[in-house]
Amino acid sequence: MIINTQLENKGNLFPGKVLSFYQDVDKIYFKTENGVILQITIIRGSVIRFRYATDNNFENDFSYAISNEGARGYSKLEVGDYENHYKIKTKKIVIEISKSDLRTSIFDISGKVICNDDWGFHWEQSYEYGGNIVKMSKSAPQGECYYGLGDKATHLNLKGKRFENWATDQYAFGKDQDPLYKSVPFYIGMYEERAYGIFFDNTFKTFFDFCNERRNVTSFWAHGGEMNYYFFYGPDMQDVITRYTDLTGKPELPPLWALGYHQCKWSYYPESKVREITQKFRELQIPCDAIYLDIDYMDGFRCFTWNKDYFPDPKKMVSELEEDGFKTVVIIDPGIKVDDDYWVYKEALDKDYFCKRADGPYMRGKVWPGECYFPDFTNPEVRKWWSGLFKEIIDDIGVKGVWNDMNEPAVMEVPSKTFPNDVRHNYDGNFCSHRKAHNIYGTQMARATYEGVKKYAYPKRPFIITRSAYSGAQRYTSSWTGDNVASWEHLWIANIQAQRMSMSGMSFTGSDIGGFAEHPTGELYTRWIQLGVFHPFCRTHSSGDHGNQEPWTFGEEVIEVTKKYVELRYQLLPYLYTMFWEYAEYGIPMLKPLVLFDQYDLQTHYRTDEFIFGNQILVCPVQESNSKGRRMYIPRGNWYNYWTKEYITGGMERWVDADIDIIPMFIKEGALIPKYPVQQYVGEKEIKVLKLEAYFKLGAKEVSKVYEDAQDGYDYMKGRYSLRTFTVTGKEKEVIIQQHKDGTFITEYDTIEFEFIGLPFTIKEVEVDNVIVDLRSVQSSENDTILGIPKDFKEIHVIG
Ligand code: NOJ
Repeated sequence: MIINTQLENKGNLFPGKVLSFYQDVDKIYFKTENGVILQITIIRGSVIRFRYATDNNFENDFSYAISNEGARGYSKLEVGDYENHYKIKTKKIVIEISKSDLRTSIFDISGKVICNDDWGFHWEQSYEYGGNIVKMSKSAPQGECYYGLGDKATHLNLKGKRFENWATDQYAFGKDQDPLYKSVPFYIGMYEERAYGIFFDNTFKTFFDFCNERRNVTSFWAHGGEMNYYFFYGPDMQDVITRYTDLTGKPELPPLWALGYHQCKWSYYPESKVREITQKFRELQIPCDAIYLDIDYMDGFRCFTWNKDYFPDPKKMVSELEEDGFKTVVIIDPGIKVDDDYWVYKEALDKDYFCKRADGPYMRGKVWPGECYFPDFTNPEVRKWWSGLFKEIIDDIGVKGVWNDMNEPAVMEVPSKTFPNDVRHNYDGNFCSHRKAHNIYGTQMARATYEGVKKYAYPKRPFIITRSAYSGAQRYTSSWTGDNVASWEHLWIANIQAQRMSMSGMSFTGSDIGGFAEHPTGELYTRWIQLGVFHPFCRTHSSGDHGNQEPWTFGEEVIEVTKKYVELRYQLLPYLYTMFWEYAEYGIPMLKPLVLFDQYDLQTHYRTDEFIFGNQILVCPVQESNSKGRRMYIPRGNWYNYWTKEYITGGMERWVDADIDIIPMFIKEGALIPKYPVQQYVGEKEIKVLKLEAYFKLGAKEVSKVYEDAQDGYDYMKGRYSLRTFTVTGKEKEVIIQQHKDGTFITEYDTIEFEFIGLPFTIKEVEVDNVIVDLRSVQSSENDTILGIPKDFKEIHVIG
């Protein structure tokens, strides 16, 4: 082996000269003189997998992250053998592999560099654990920016920083604190407006360094396993992300109620307290769909049991809550109390389902119930058993959602906060230590929970939430950002984390609104709820040690503002659901940081606060106390201030007024924003009309979509959905709206009500499918810019 001393880096080993290469369909192998093999797999023209073996030996190829449906299908592939390098050409990119040291360079088709190895693959042998510390370094041209990486609580652009992925129970974490709860080893690089992505699919502890150690180098490494990464080329950032989710999977649609507002606290008990809370929501008419039971519903924190003193008849309570429009969500933890009188413990012990230490004893650690053992969720048989445990909770008692907590896995009173490294895991037959299984443990728990809830909730859809996650977890579960703090800084963090999770393939995420630890002021809670209603998962939660955190605990003004924003969320449900459908179907992130919305505008590259909710609504939270407004960047294009209807041109920073009841919010011109009436919970009312707010745009066509279905169940998978695609063309004296409809679902309403905003003319005539209609028959008596049109029209002309 060659130790490259020129680089003054003793201990690192580097690939030697390439001796040979061969191709096996979509895989190309390059072997070096010192036993390194580089396997390149062309997954698609712009998705390439790079995998390196040392000692001529690949590991068994297994990944929890890659979804079975991971799209494949390269159409063109050429391999060339040149004097100093090999060249692989797909339809989208060219890869050069140096014959002298196996370093790779990736170019776009026009020859522009996208990503070059610096030292490329290198490694250190680990005598202590066996195997290697595998490393990769890439050159980082000046001006390159980095995004992604899951839940990191830092500036959106990761440049200049180093990160560690090791799922950690990080109570009351701070800004820049790392690692946190999740491990998502996927980042997006962007240089000269061209974006690419790298997914380092390795569940060991991984590190990412974005020009922190060396100004012009980005590197990533892992404490074991293989150098195994996927490269995605854009150049559009959105394509990088959708290619990543093609590979790691997308969720199914959640039940619509899961997109409503949720109320949680550690803990609501006994039953009378739960009812008091739910009744208060109805009394104050603040919409709410879900109420959570934290650990105190259990008997001595034993999973799958109930404290019968607090909840004498859970089934009755759950069903009565449901009659009132509340779904019950319960928490579950991985730690199973060591207790010989506890059936879950005994069953798992009998079946040998608990994790063990290297020398045979059980993995024992303290969590809520005291001493616990922990199921090995990386064992498929254990997952199946765990799924079965949900029968009573879901099928019999009628609970609708399950919340997976402490699954990093968290262990109390030990410095590492988790299992020791020597704990053994099944890893689906690839037996290993905790070093390899740690980061995936939480996802496998959430997966087992998902499978159980899905089975027993059928024919309804499951709803799952998790704290820890690895890439791919989005297939099974939503998530929240863990134990944050009631501070202004954490409001900033929550905004970034939700955006970052969205860019990292996990859109269905939210923060504990108001903060988990400590107590927010009414003002902070107000600003947080204003932001929270724009997060795909929207839940108030608090530790409960510092007073109450229900909207009414802060006084009248906060009640009013909370109501206004939660109502807005419920009005926007068809918009939100359509966003979710786009995410579930195409992997399109539900929240778009400005850089993702318009990467071709340099101004967006360092923005953090503003984001696009879906495709057409710009939001920017107020993050300081006593604000009457804020400066924000309005992306290019023309926008309407949602509150004042003022029409403005973007591409610059502006001051935006935002008194305590306003969050800056703008609608893209040309958009049709769908709205339902306010409901206290999903399904409360029959939807008699679909409202579409039509924001006038002169010139080029604008497309808006509305996806609807039965809001639960699986009929949508058989084509019973309704997808309306509207194309709007605005002229000086006319607006033309064309509708294309897909799917066989018949919506409840018969009428679509258009409200025109910014129309430069008075409506004189309306033509529906080539027939001029009597204006009075379609125009609202109160407002002549509102028109009610039969829902299934093909084309309408609104003429001035
Ligand atoms: C830790 C979780 O992060 C928090 O949300 C929960 O309330 C507590 N565990 C108690 O279960």
